[in-house]
Amino acid sequence: MPPNAAAALQNASLVGQNKTAVVVGGTRGIGGAVARLLAKLGCSRIIILGRGEKQGKDAVEILKNRAPKGGKVEAEFVQGDLSDNKGMRSAAIALQAAAGDAVIDYLILCQNGSPAGLNIKYNAEGHDTAFAIQGISRFSIAYLLTTRGGLASNAMVMSICNQGQSLDDLSVDDLSLKNRLEARPSGPALFMQQSKRDCTVIDSCFEELNTRYPQYRYYSLFPGLVKTEEFDPSFAPGYLKWVMWLGIRLIATTPDQYANFPVYILASPEAQRTLGSGKYFDRRLNPTPLGKWASDSKNRQALWEKMAEIIGEK
Ligand SMILES: NC(=O)c1ccc[n+]([C@@H]2O[C@H](COP(=O)([O-])OP(=O)(O)OC[C@H]3O[C@@H](n4cnc5c(N)ncnc54)[C@H](OP(=O)(O)O)[C@@H]3O)[C@@H](O)[C@H]2O)c1
Repeated sequence: MPPNAAAALQNASLVGQNKTAVVVGGTRGIGGAVARLLAKLGCSRIIILGRGEKQGKDAVEILKNRAPKGGKVEAEFVQGDLSDNKGMRSAAIALQAAAGDAVIDYLILCQNGSPAGLNIKYNAEGHDTAFAIQGISRFSIAYLLTTRGGLASNAMVMSICNQGQSLDDLSVDDLSLKNRLEARPSGPALFMQQSKRDCTVIDSCFEELNTRYPQYRYYSLFPGLVKTEEFDPSFAPGYLKWVMWLGIRLIATTPDQYANFPVYILASPEAQRTLGSGKYFDRRLNPTPLGKWASDSKNRQALWEKMAEIIGEK
């Protein structure tokens, strides 16, 4: 049975534990809510990253004011754009400089690069920009902070995005799905493939990170539908915008409601006991398996090599 995360967090506190959290995409949406809940529990340092300066600075003030009685929250905004390699690398360096070496206890990745359907824009390296933000930057930031000594011992890294879907015929040589465009897919069909691609890549990278760096824990969580401040279903093509429009009205949670689930894993003393060694979860913290493509270790290794090449680490 999934845990009652919100109830369990009533008894949790991070006051006096000297924890440092980095929330990428933490200026609003799900990441903003995760940062606020960590502040409310007394996480002593919270660093958030996004592009918008005003939004970032406003969010920092809110975090400082959320500190519980007897606790103090130091909050900082780091401006960064994860659309291309240069931006990802600069962001990783700036985050480590802001946090200090080997002190990040929680690295939470919430940056949003929703699938673009047919409206693909390509970044400086020729990759689908939405995929660069959603998939490549999750690998890049996690990898760079892991291998450059950014993480504290026993650190937890968490992606909040899609989980468990599989693009079964994914080719590591066509991660931006350019070949599929030649078959003139419909907007909704391509959108679904991009969504599965993002998920397949994130799942595979996180499974490899767990295998290669067992001293840390790399989690991947699917949030379900969350009605964030700027959620606008019209980003989805064709009939999918109506499916989302309805879903948002019928089943969506708010960012603050949803934040209980990731923060339960990070901060509740009972999480390890109730969740065991599982790393991949659905919107209510039911464990979820890897998708078919990501379950194949040969696929994952080929992808790892490709991703290292893409981010200039090979
Ligand atoms: N909300 C949902 O229902 C839902 C459902 C399934 C999956 N997800 C996934 O969950 C994650 C969080 O979604 P959300 O709804 O919380 O998104 P959101 O409300 O749009 O917030 C996204 C955050 O990412 C930052 N961001 C966007 N582009 C960026 C860039 N190029 N570089 C750096 N930061 C960037 C934003 O700040 P700036 O704009 O200032 O840069 C903001 O802080 C996303 O990966 C999303 O696809 C969400």
